[in-house]
Amino acid sequence: MLPATVSKLVSSGPAALRARWYLRSAASVGSRVRVWGNPAIFNYGTLIIGDRVRVVSHVARVELAVGSAGRLEIGNNVYINYGTSIGATQSIRIGDNCSLGCHVIIMDNDFHELDPKRRNEVPPSSPIVLENDVWLGVRVTVLRGVTIGAGSVVGAGSVVTRDIPPRSLAAGVPAKVIRAL
Ligand SMILES: CC(C)(COP(=O)(O)OP(=O)(O)OC[C@H]1O[C@@H](n2cnc3c(N)ncnc32)[C@H](O)[C@@H]1OP(=O)(O)O)[C@@H](O)C(=O)NCCC(=O)NCCS
Repeated sequence: MLPATVSKLVSSGPAALRARWYLRSAASVGSRVRVWGNPAIFNYGTLIIGDRVRVVSHVARVELAVGSAGRLEIGNNVYINYGTSIGATQSIRIGDNCSLGCHVIIMDNDFHELDPKRRNEVPPSSPIVLENDVWLGVRVTVLRGVTIGAGSVVGAGSVVTRDIPPRSLAAGVPAKVIRAL
């Protein structure tokens, strides 16, 4: 006979078990979190996972990387599709009900200085915030220091270099607001 906690986890399905296993380094993991496939989790800082977060990592791996001075906070009911990579060296906060399409990249640091003589130096980080209900289409890249306002949508393939106001549709390289939602 299995202990009650193990039996409860098994009965809630393998995706729930995978979540417990792969996200075991997180400071907190909410209820009903699901993981499919084998995400690459490199957590040397603070990783917070809300309730009902789904990580779909089967077709291509999801990467969640948190540096020693970093904090990655993923809110409730967030959907992370395959191939997505999130790198938090300082702070990335993803609000409730956000959806990240396939192969999204979010990184709060450029990782290299522009000057060729200092190319191996890491420049300062700048925090990223996705407010609640943000939807990022496939292959969106979000660069350091950006806030995407609540309810906004970013079209496929866009590179977000500046803040996007709430309830906007933005697209392009660099992403510009196309219309209000
Ligand atoms: C967000 C999205 C659905 C918006 O579609 P829409 O409301 O039909 O937008 P429209 O087609 O009316 O586009 C309005 C304008 O923005 C442009 N545009 C739309 N999406 C764009 C994009 N991803 N990149 C650059 N420009 C884009 C259009 O060319 C159009 O420009 P125009 O007025 O000069 O002709 C669409 O941009 C998109 O990204 N679709 C893919 C979503 C996706 O990734 N789904 C998978 C999720 S896992």
